[in-house]
Amino acid sequence: LGLLRRVESYLGEFLSQKSRTKETFQDLSFSRSNSSGSIATDEGLFEQPESFASSKGVMEKHLWRRSMQLRDKQQAWQESPEGRKMLELRRSLPAYKEKDALLAAISRDQVVIISGETGCGKTTQIPQFILESEIEAVRGAVCSIICTQPRRISAMSVSERVASERGEKLGDSVGYKVRLEGMKGRDTRLLFCTTGILLRRLLVDRNLKGVTHVIVDEIHERGMNEDFLLIVLKDLLPRRPELRLILMSATLDSELFSSYFGRAQIIHVPGFTYPVRTHFLEDVLEITGCKLTPYNQIDDYGQEKMWKMSKHAPRKRKSQIVSVVEDALKAADFKGYSPQTRESLACWNPDSIGFYLIEYLLCNICESDKPGAILVFMTGWDDINSLKEKLHANPLLGDPSRVLLLACHGSMASAEQRLIFDEPGDGVRKIVLATNIAETSITINDVVFVLDCGKAKETSYDALNNTPCLLPSWISKVSAQQRRGRAGRVQPGECYHLYPRCVYDAFAEYQLPEILRTPLQSLCLQIKSLNLGSISEFLSRALQSPELLAPKLGKMLLVAAIFNCLDPVLTIVSGLSVRDPFLTPFDKKDLAEAAKSQFSRDNSDHLALVRAYEGWKVAERDFAGYDYCWKNFLSAQSMKAIDSLRKEFLSLLRDTDLVDTNTTTHNAWSYDEHLVRAVICYGLYPGICSVVHNEKSFSLKTMEDGQVLLYSNSVNARDSKIPYPWLVFNEKIKVNSVFLRDSTAVSDSVLLLFGGSFSKGHIDGHLKMLGGYLEFFMKPAIAEMYQCLKEELDELIQIKLLNPRMDTHSYHE
Ligand code: CDP
Ligand code: MG
Repeated sequence: LGLLRRVESYLGEFLSQKSRTKETFQDLSFSRSNSSGSIATDEGLFEQPESFASSKGVMEKHLWRRSMQLRDKQQAWQESPEGRKMLELRRSLPAYKEKDALLAAISRDQVVIISGETGCGKTTQIPQFILESEIEAVRGAVCSIICTQPRRISAMSVSERVASERGEKLGDSVGYKVRLEGMKGRDTRLLFCTTGILLRRLLVDRNLKGVTHVIVDEIHERGMNEDFLLIVLKDLLPRRPELRLILMSATLDSELFSSYFGRAQIIHVPGFTYPVRTHFLEDVLEITGCKLTPYNQIDDYGQEKMWKMSKHAPRKRKSQIVSVVEDALKAADFKGYSPQTRESLACWNPDSIGFYLIEYLLCNICESDKPGAILVFMTGWDDINSLKEKLHANPLLGDPSRVLLLACHGSMASAEQRLIFDEPGDGVRKIVLATNIAETSITINDVVFVLDCGKAKETSYDALNNTPCLLPSWISKVSAQQRRGRAGRVQPGECYHLYPRCVYDAFAEYQLPEILRTPLQSLCLQIKSLNLGSISEFLSRALQSPELLAPKLGKMLLVAAIFNCLDPVLTIVSGLSVRDPFLTPFDKKDLAEAAKSQFSRDNSDHLALVRAYEGWKVAERDFAGYDYCWKNFLSAQSMKAIDSLRKEFLSLLRDTDLVDTNTTTHNAWSYDEHLVRAVICYGLYPGICSVVHNEKSFSLKTMEDGQVLLYSNSVNARDSKIPYPWLVFNEKIKVNSVFLRDSTAVSDSVLLLFGGSFSKGHIDGHLKMLGGYLEFFMKPAIAEMYQCLKEELDELIQIKLLNPRMDTHSYHE
């Protein structure tokens, strides 16, 4: 939910009050003068849309002139040959037919809901209709339309598309803003942004001053941010009666949203798709000449999972397993399955046989005469990568003169994005391996064949163990229909679902909203930071444990500021908020891990990152940053992101007076590594596991999960001995087993002083788990001494929070 927000909420009242006055978030607010904002807000422009006279009276001269210019520019484009051609194209989209009804509804009602098939033109057209009509009514200079997208990639690609439909450069009247990137100018009136960006703006600008329209796209996905945004906006509507809210959804579940917003009007855009022939696994296997066996007869599946998970297993097992599956597929008879097998089919794992089948099907289609691109829905980024590698080795599919093989996922570069929309030359078949991002938010026009593996990675939350999970789960019926629909856009299509029909029948109708699948802490923080009043009872449990609530990274920054070791901690906190900068290419794992370990001297991934970043910074000064990254298997993009996040966090801290604006001491390049380790521990607690050494290596245990494992690229995973009894970690993820991402080893005394609150029995819990391992510290006198030190430390932090200007320079000693 964005580290910034977490930092902010932790710093609480403080920051939100100060930043409101100081306008810390200038980059987030829109480039409009206050006077224009107040005109749009206070004068009720929507009440008399047809008569402009009244608005003219109140509109300042320069805004009026600007609005006229915008109108003239728009008209000139619409009358130009290119503009006409573009308009022709846009008119062919189903959304165009609803234009008048939509604009009428918007001028009448505060909330309007629009639903329509994917590709009917909701995202590209509807914000544009509003913009055009505002410009035509000579209100161009005072309108400000925000359209949110759940994903960066759609905000970027859609804004580019809309700008080109208006014959403009991106950043003129149409712009975008996603975290760390954006393109908008003085005249940007329609801004596409991620939902997170708008939520962040709401933190400092609760009334969305000056904004005239908010469009929330893809609400059917029921993402956490989108749902939360709707809660906040519903709260805002009575305070801003002239603000218009437009909700857009791809599926027909709009009734729910309509009743949430007091029976808001729903406008449905009828779509048109060609018929799509559906094949389930049974049919697919018939094509391949095999038959399917029920799941429980292929007991090797469990083993394959093991193979996937365990990094040390010999590679040759792979081919062995594929042949086992093949044989099983060939031998078994699928059609006569019994009720028991139905049950076991519920655990059918499409990934296990998926690759083999997908390769087979792709070859089949490529050899057929029927033209059209192929869209393959995979579970996640890892899958896409390994499948791509497998397909590259195929003589037909790996031949670039015949097949254009592309990947499509949320975090790819913009240049790669564009290739997906291009149509390849004659005789070349386009194959796109995509995550569920291609389900509704991205439309690839020329798709005729869809392969659907039936699963998607879904964030969920193991409430029992307080562990977030990212596990492949079955999609819903609605998602399966969406995926199928992608095949019928240009001509009759074919959809191959790589699971049996009975599994499809067992799918849930809709996916469970994310807000019901994620931990409540982050939601609480948002509610608190937006001052939405008291948090209702069901959240009380989360509130009672402030240790869990306290946002880790914010804590870390705060304590680092007190102990004057902010520089390395800024790097660590920024590093934890971006994609892992240490790359591990599939085929060069060992080299990459070795490269990382040269940054590690002290059993800490966090300190390894600090050194990697410092090295990059030095190289960057000689314009050799890119080389440095290449040599050391680092992501240059992540390094740059870290660089800019560091600046952002520092300015946040400065605005709260927590760091001195004048001195540069906290930016000194030298620091005490033990101190940094302690600060990391302070921030990451209670993310802690104990290191239990046995003869050859060690195992790790947490209180909640028992045995846990390290990701293979952790510097601690390469060591056979860790010279400290504890590891603190930022994140654990359940993928079959529980895995820890970055970790730092810490000593007993650091844990006692910097880990959690001594008095509340947290440390006690750890001691019990280890059965007297820390006996020494339990001796009353020593325990008392630690208790005193700890209390002093806690007090110091409190005082610093209440009195940020207090000088703490001497404390680190
Ligand atoms: O939002 P919705 O799914 O209803 O449709 P859209 O994203 O507005 O797309 C409408 C049309 O514009 C589709 O036919 C897309 O293929 C096309 N489009 C495009 O050609 N290039 C883009 N970057 C985005 C959309
Ligand atoms: Mg859309």
